[in-house]
Amino acid sequence: MDEPRMDETEQHVMPTYARAAEVFVAGRGATVVDRDGREFLDFLAGIAVSALGHAHPELSAAVADQIGRVAHLSNLFRHPFSEQVAARLCAHTAMDAVFFTNSGTESMECALKLARRAMGRRGTPARTSFVALEGGFHGRTLGALSLTHAEKYRVPFGPLLDVAWVPPGDLAALERCLHERLPAALVIEPIQGEGGVRELPGDYLRGARELCDRTGTILVHDEIQSGCGRTGHFLAAQHHDVTPDVVTIAKPIAAGLPMGACLARGELAHVFDKGDHGSTFAGGPLVCRAALVFLDALDGGLLDNVAARGAELRAGLERLAAELPVIAEVRGRGLMLGLRLHHSAALAQRRLYDAGLIVNCTAGDVLRLLPPFVVSSAQIDTALGQLRSVLTGLPANQETA
Ligand SMILES: Cc1ncc(COP(=O)(O)O)c(C=O)c1O
Repeated sequence: MDEPRMDETEQHVMPTYARAAEVFVAGRGATVVDRDGREFLDFLAGIAVSALGHAHPELSAAVADQIGRVAHLSNLFRHPFSEQVAARLCAHTAMDAVFFTNSGTESMECALKLARRAMGRRGTPARTSFVALEGGFHGRTLGALSLTHAEKYRVPFGPLLDVAWVPPGDLAALERCLHERLPAALVIEPIQGEGGVRELPGDYLRGARELCDRTGTILVHDEIQSGCGRTGHFLAAQHHDVTPDVVTIAKPIAAGLPMGACLARGELAHVFDKGDHGSTFAGGPLVCRAALVFLDALDGGLLDNVAARGAELRAGLERLAAELPVIAEVRGRGLMLGLRLHHSAALAQRRLYDAGLIVNCTAGDVLRLLPPFVVSSAQIDTALGQLRSVLTGLPANQETA
C-alpha cells in the first residue's frame, strides 16, 4: 500500500486534536516504527487501548479469518461470539447483563439512560439528575460530556444535563449532596485517568457504595480506562471489594478494534425494554471475535503479567522519584501509572518522544504511562532508563522551567 501524502489529508480533518509530528506506520508488541524506520517504545498504547500491543499474531489471524466469514450483521440477529463475550464479561465483573457499544462515551450514554429508566420504573421519575466527581472525565457526547468536569470541554456546549460535582475523597460532601439532590446516579472513576491518574481511596469507594444504598442512588463506575485488567484485576474497584450497580468499560476490550460495554446487575439488568436503546454496529462478530482473543489472553496469564510488570514499573518510578527532585509523586496501579512533576509535563513528554519513549501528559503536570499488557521486563528497564535521562535534564521546579 502506498503511504498517504500528509499534506493532502490534514486540511480535510477537523482540527480538534493537537497531533504529534511523528507518523507511525507499523508496530510489534510494545513498539511502534515511524516512516523513517525509527523504533519507539509505546507506553501509551493508543490511550490505554492496545492491550495486546501491535500486530499480535493471534489477533491478526482471528480478525483476518473473521472478516473473511462475516464482519457485520446488526443486532437484529444473534451471533454466538457476542453471547460468549457477554457471558465472560459478566463473569469477570459480577454483573448480569451487557449492552454493547462502540466506544467509552457510548457506554456512558447507555449507563445514564439506564439510570433514568430505572428511576421511572421504581416510581421515582423525578430523579433525573446526576452527581459526578471533580476532575472526572466520562466522554464527549452530550450526556457523557455533562458529567465531564473540565470546563474547557463542557462549557462551550451547554446547556447540558443537570449534574452536581463533589470533591473526590470527601465522603461528608458526597453524603450532603446525595441527600439534597436525590439524583438518578452517582458516577465515579475508581482511578481518574484524564484527571491525572488519581486513585480514589478504598474507604471512599466503600463509603460511596454505602451512601448510594442508603439514598437509593444508582452507583455507576466508569472503568473505561482503568478496567479490563489494566490495574492487575479485571476492574480497579475489585482491589477494594466494591461492586457498583452499573459499570462501563471500553478501550482494551477488543484489543484495538472499537468496542465498549455497559454492564448492569440485579433489577438493572432488566430495565430496558425492546427498542429502549440500540446501536447498528455494536457487538458485531468481528469485534467480538477480537474480544474473545483478548479475553483468552487475559485469562491465559496476561493479567499476571500486568500485575508483575506493573509492580516493576512502579518500583522503578519510585526509585526515580527518590532520586530526582523534579518528580513530585508516583500515582496509579498496575499498568496505569502517573508521574506528577513539579511543573508542566509537556516538555518532558516532547523530550521523551525524542528519546524514543511514547507517553502522554494529563492534567497539565502528570506524565501518564499506559503500556500494553504484553510489555516485558526488558522494555520496562529501557523505559526507566529513558525517563531517568530525560527527567535528569529537566529543571526541578516551575520557576526555572
Ligand atoms: C474514564 C473515561 N471515560 C470515558 C472516556 C471516553 O471514551 P471514548 O473516547 O472511547 O469515547 C474515556 C476516554 O479517555 C475515559 O478515560
